[in-house]
Amino acid sequence: MTPIRFGIIGGSGLYKMEGLEDMREIAVDTPYGAPSDAIATGTLDGVPVAFLARHGRSHSTLPGDIPFRANIWALKSLGVDYLVSVSAVGSLKEALAPRHMALPDQFIDLTRHRAGTFFGDGAVAHVSLAHPVCAALSAALAQAFDDCALPDAVLHRGGTYVCIEGPQFSTYAESQLYRSWDASVIGMTNMPEARLAREAEIAYATLALVTDYDCWHEGHDAVTADIAIGNLMHNAANAQRVLRACIARLAAAPPASKAHSALQQALVTQPAAMP
Ligand code: ADE
Repeated sequence: MTPIRFGIIGGSGLYKMEGLEDMREIAVDTPYGAPSDAIATGTLDGVPVAFLARHGRSHSTLPGDIPFRANIWALKSLGVDYLVSVSAVGSLKEALAPRHMALPDQFIDLTRHRAGTFFGDGAVAHVSLAHPVCAALSAALAQAFDDCALPDAVLHRGGTYVCIEGPQFSTYAESQLYRSWDASVIGMTNMPEARLAREAEIAYATLALVTDYDCWHEGHDAVTADIAIGNLMHNAANAQRVLRACIARLAAAPPASKAHSALQQALVTQPAAMP
């Protein structure tokens, strides 16, 4: 099968990719079990793309129950080496308002109960995670955002994403703590996704969609479920446009990514089996 180099993981509100032609669903089996859902493959403006709904298409999987290893393995086995992670987030800064988009370039991982490596069972490696986001892929997303000239859309470049275990939202004290760390956004799903992508030598970047101010904000209690869902749908529609433009850019000139040689640069004593 021809490798599908471009992958998209859709989070809350983004359960399918608009405009995917010749769509075929592939149920991939992996050593870590089944991924969150069948992977939708097809072409987007002529470019082969693989799309996976992180919570399943009917949003039936909690963040802590997402089969992260199976998801990354399955995408890698199809040939994916550029992966855009679309993720709903809360904002930890006044300037990042609901409906804005962000391209975080750092993570703080506060998850507690998730399998986070392909190594173990005799296989040993320590890949660098100093720069967990592929700068070239994130830059392509930023350029795609500019290409789209979306009315009223705002994109924040850079920032730190705090990943909590969930499924509950944060306490007020936690939210204030993360703000004191100067973090920008908060979510429940990008870890260990980003670390596994790095071990799999996949270039990874997050397109974060702000749905709410987290509970630190005095307006927080005024946010109803209807408002949050409205923000989610608005963001998802904009994200579809940005993704499409991004894939076109990547296909025209796939950028070099250090992620593609992560294991060459890593401290490896025993390699792991990878697809
Ligand atoms: N996802 C969307 N909003 C969030 C928040 N406030 N905290 C954690 N995850 C989120």
